[in-house]
Amino acid sequence: MGELTVPEGGFWPAPEVPQPNIYPMEWRVETEKLAAIYQKSKTTLWNPADLPWDGLRPEDFTREQRLGIMYWFSVLANFDASGPAVFARATIQAFEKHEEDPVRKCFFSITRDEMNHEECCQRTIARLWPGGPLDWTPADDLERAAHNNIGWLYHNGGRYWTGYTAAVSKYSLPVLFTSFMMGEMAASTLFRGMASGTGHPVFGEMFRRIGRDESRHLQICMTILEKEWPGLTDEVKSLITRQLRAGFVFLSMILWEPPEGFWELPPYFLPNHRVLMDKARDAGLGVLSYEEQAENWRQAMARIRAIVERWGIAFPAIPELDLDGVAVDAIDPEDIIPVF
Ligand SMILES: [Fe+2]
Ligand SMILES: [Fe+2]
Repeated sequence: MGELTVPEGGFWPAPEVPQPNIYPMEWRVETEKLAAIYQKSKTTLWNPADLPWDGLRPEDFTREQRLGIMYWFSVLANFDASGPAVFARATIQAFEKHEEDPVRKCFFSITRDEMNHEECCQRTIARLWPGGPLDWTPADDLERAAHNNIGWLYHNGGRYWTGYTAAVSKYSLPVLFTSFMMGEMAASTLFRGMASGTGHPVFGEMFRRIGRDESRHLQICMTILEKEWPGLTDEVKSLITRQLRAGFVFLSMILWEPPEGFWELPPYFLPNHRVLMDKARDAGLGVLSYEEQAENWRQAMARIRAIVERWGIAFPAIPELDLDGVAVDAIDPEDIIPVF
């Protein structure tokens, strides 16, 4: 063995790592509760491949019902299936900004869960409408309408993605996480509603499991926010107010119906969307009625309002749901952060 070398005059200090950077490595724990949630996320992990897929048989549905189900999952995928990429990027961001270790690990666990939710969209569509969402040739007007609507939907998803990639490094944790919190609140509301609405064993089990994950994501967001919200500046607070409105505008597409103002859609999109949603409803997917959706969404928004107002954050006006609040300027794609 060689001998230890101690330089004359002492060891040379390594150059400081320019930040943001994932180095130097460290595992700082400030919030034990987050560390505990992360541990629990590992033991409650489930495998979408283990759902009773044999019970999802194309022949149990009419062609229009299958189209409706594929359409609904394609719409869901605009939100839920963007989760892995969104949270993977947020995870890298958390490493680069040296957030405490449980924050990084919780982001990672959300990424993992969202990959499962994406797989549910993928598997359902593959069983009922091979080639879906877009790699198939429509044979009649209903199918052409579905194919075209999905194309327009993903056009809007693409606009938000470009904005998000720029926004994620721009926004601080409280802003980012208020938006995520809203997405998780929306998601847990949606899946709870659908789990009780569907009579189908595969969808019932899928929605229950996804709903449980989304509740855990919501818990992660709330734990982070309880730490981050105290002491926000007025500037950040008003940014959050705007984010809440953006979240409503974006998430309404899957929770209810898209409001005016953000979505770039052809005039026939909404009437055709309604027809296709009715097909999914008719197939027993558990899609709630327009009024039930509005009521669920209103309750979820009211819950968010109660939470943020506790921290002195103004809630935006949501005239679409008869919720009053602060007026917010038109929403741009760069404002859109929330996902499931
Ligand atoms: Fe989620
Ligand atoms: Fe999800």
